[in-house]
Amino acid sequence: TFVVTEACIKCKYTDCVEVCPVDCFHEGPNFLVIDPEECIDCTLCEPECPIEAIYPEDDLPEGQEKFIEINKELSESWPVITEMIEAPDDADDWAQVKDKVDLLDR
Ligand code: SF4
Ligand code: F3S
Repeated sequence: TFVVTEACIKCKYTDCVEVCPVDCFHEGPNFLVIDPEECIDCTLCEPECPIEAIYPEDDLPEGQEKFIEINKELSESWPVITEMIEAPDDADDWAQVKDKVDLLDR
């Protein structure tokens, strides 16, 4: 299973959603998640993210392990997204910011 991590918060570029063959991505107000029940580990989404927010669950950067549970939990209630949408106006300002987890809108 692949996991969307902290970097995506307030960036949400959505390049990732178009390549997923099984429509794994679910959209929240300022973040996306992957449904671990649907992901078939095809790896296609990982290189699509311009800020490298997507990782395999067994190769997460240090400190990002909590996003396994966050992806699982939020994919159960957020709607599926399959087409790219415009990123927030200030997405580029947030791209390099660390420690954004408290800003995640549910
Ligand atoms: Fe979808 Fe493949 Fe990414 Fe899993 S690894 S979320 S199946 S694109
Ligand atoms: Fe987020 Fe990257 Fe997709 S910023 S929406 S994981 S392209």
